[in-house]
Amino acid sequence: SVLEMEVEQIKKGSYDHFMQKEIHEQPHSLTTTMRGRLKDGGVLLGGLKEHLKTIRRCRRVVFIGCGTSYNAALAARPFVEELTGIPVTMEVASDLLDRQGPIYREDTAVFVSQSGETADTLLALDYALENGALCVGITNTVGSTLSRKTHCGVHINAGCEIGVASTKAYTSQIVAMAMMALAIGSDQISTQARRNAIISGLTSLPSCVSGVLKLDAEMKELASSLIDSESLLVFGRGYNYATALEGALKVKEVALMHSEGMLAGEMKHGPLALVDENLPIIVIATRDACFSKQQSVIQQLLSRKGRLVVMCSKGDASAVCPNGSCRVIEVPGVADCLQPVINIIPLQLLAYHLTVLRGFDVDQPRNLAKSVTTQ
Ligand code: G6P
Repeated sequence: SVLEMEVEQIKKGSYDHFMQKEIHEQPHSLTTTMRGRLKDGGVLLGGLKEHLKTIRRCRRVVFIGCGTSYNAALAARPFVEELTGIPVTMEVASDLLDRQGPIYREDTAVFVSQSGETADTLLALDYALENGALCVGITNTVGSTLSRKTHCGVHINAGCEIGVASTKAYTSQIVAMAMMALAIGSDQISTQARRNAIISGLTSLPSCVSGVLKLDAEMKELASSLIDSESLLVFGRGYNYATALEGALKVKEVALMHSEGMLAGEMKHGPLALVDENLPIIVIATRDACFSKQQSVIQQLLSRKGRLVVMCSKGDASAVCPNGSCRVIEVPGVADCLQPVINIIPLQLLAYHLTVLRGFDVDQPRNLAKSVTTQ
């Protein structure tokens, strides 16, 4: 009805679509995720406090989720391992169920779900509860089935997300898990300096996100150069493997373009055969311990005449692309383990503009639902 349409427009404010609004809202949603939780150089998570001792003693952390929520957990994996010293394994919820994979009493199973109502994730939760694991929920929905059935957890407080393609929930999930990792690791003296650096990185994150959102026009321009491509590859590694998967997921789910995120370390074991002067490839090469490895990946791709777009840290354009042979996206730098929060944003903007330019429905992509409550 006309009234419903007007209400929708009011909720969207000055934006054309919810996805666009939610992308641009991220400096604020990240602020609310952290509000009241970073205290005196430490982290306070009320929903986990009573269980931290048990988690510290667990044999492993198993992350379980679907879609974007799985990717957020994948982004968290490296820093959870680093700050807690606990081995972390990853499970796509449906695959854990298909395999009836081993889950033990000594495990901490962390369930990540924006809606808290995804059927596959909830079935995996029942399965982990039956197997006696400590079950932790990371969700955006207070009172959801996930939040009720888990033993403890963290609400990400990103605010209601309406666009089917998850954007602000993804970045808030990563930040919530960073705070979780800091809380679990807070008894370790040896990582105190590292924890302090990450906490100050978290504090500067909202302004850093505002900075990266200024790439909007540049991403629109990049989108217009990719509008007729059949496929788009995204290479990442380390902290930004998840960025590659999530960037590609955004492009396929809303822009309806084939896209794959890949581990750059696996490039020479297959994907390299696809490289030619037509296939666009995004390489994520911001500064971290993997930087020089990514530089050599770029060299190998260029020597095969690859059509490259390289995402790098501000000021690194000539370091990643010596003779201007590729397109460069320069992003602001934060603490390396939080860089995925920054790096996904240009890719969200790219997917958004690609969708609009290709004339597809941004907020209700073909065949997809916001919350998949059937198996
Ligand atoms: C659906 C949505 C995805 C979402 C996934 C997991 O497939 O289309 O955008 O990432 O479910 O949803 P959840 O609510 O569990 O995070």
